[in-house]
Amino acid sequence: MSERFFNCSLKSYNSFGLEARAVQLWCLDSLEEFEPMQKDGAPALLLSGGSNVLLLGDVPGLVLHSRLKGIRMLDRDETRVLVRAAGGEGWHEFVRHCLAEGYYGLENLALIPGTVGAAPVQNIGAYGIELAERVACVEALELSTGRMHRFSRADCEFGYRDSIFKREPRDRYLITAVEFLLDLKPSVNTRYAALANELAAAGISAPTPGDVFDAICRVRRSKLPDPAQLGNAGSFFKNPSVTEAQYLELKDCEPGLVAYPLPGAGYKLAAGWLIERCGLRGQRRGAVGVHERQSLVLVNYGGGSGQEILALAREVQERVLERFGVALEAEVRLVGSVT
Ligand code: EPU
Repeated sequence: MSERFFNCSLKSYNSFGLEARAVQLWCLDSLEEFEPMQKDGAPALLLSGGSNVLLLGDVPGLVLHSRLKGIRMLDRDETRVLVRAAGGEGWHEFVRHCLAEGYYGLENLALIPGTVGAAPVQNIGAYGIELAERVACVEALELSTGRMHRFSRADCEFGYRDSIFKREPRDRYLITAVEFLLDLKPSVNTRYAALANELAAAGISAPTPGDVFDAICRVRRSKLPDPAQLGNAGSFFKNPSVTEAQYLELKDCEPGLVAYPLPGAGYKLAAGWLIERCGLRGQRRGAVGVHERQSLVLVNYGGGSGQEILALAREVQERVLERFGVALEAEVRLVGSVT
């Protein structure tokens, strides 16, 4: 049964654990209960797991939170399976469910906070895999009309931490379900160095998907703070791309620079390395700080505000720009305005 709350705290709805209030919070449990929203009733914000947002203050309107649940297998042949998951399912629980059923291909994305419905918005990716590789289709509800739309993988226009759902107008669609094409034959992707090292250290030379899942969980736990213990939203910035000329110039001054060649041209730089090199790793500014093991992650030690995190983010951007001439772009969605 859907629920509506008024003047509601969003603290448990954002992984930074920031205190912000919504005029109204609507937790939606079933599509039958949905009423189309006309222009003036449009939601100010769609909030699912709240693991990729920075709330800069109270939300002066309606916040819509999906609790749509359900996972089912739609089709299968000898080698592949089509699985459908509702948008309100927890992402990690879904990955674990697929592994238990023998549906493979999502293991490298284990332990990413958030929900199935939020996953396509920024095309979550980790340890050598992006969600886009496995998406067959995305089903979404257009909030102003109540019409359902099906987006093929191509329609989603996936890119690095990007999709059509991230562009304007934001919050036009609520992703109600995602269909995934997964493998029935175990196959693993262990090319990412940190994953390969973890498997080697565990003495595993022919890893199963279960081994990869476990190794990913260990690597993530060793590097990334658990939002339940320390408020954060994963990587706060995207890894920036630079031209070959910029890369060569930087590499000349900074031989330790961590960079990966991009398929077309240019390089992607490890933003965490740039931030660390500016001496910011583990730095604290009152109740907020740069995480001590992963500089790409900003954290709320408790009681910090969205404005304090934003001020720290700006400081990080300025320092990196000053030292390397590279502009870092926020990966996290900023909601509200600077005061
Ligand atoms: N590094 C440092 N210092 C740091 C952080 C990183 O030197 O403080 C170096 C590492 O040693 C490594 C390189 O930078 O050589 C890359 O680090 P890591 O493997 O931790 O990955 P990342 O590029 O920092 C990205 C994603 C993560 C994802 C990991 C693993 C982005 C913005 N972030 O981080 O995604 O888990 O790769 O694939 O692309 C997220 O999006 O929220 C997220 C956590």
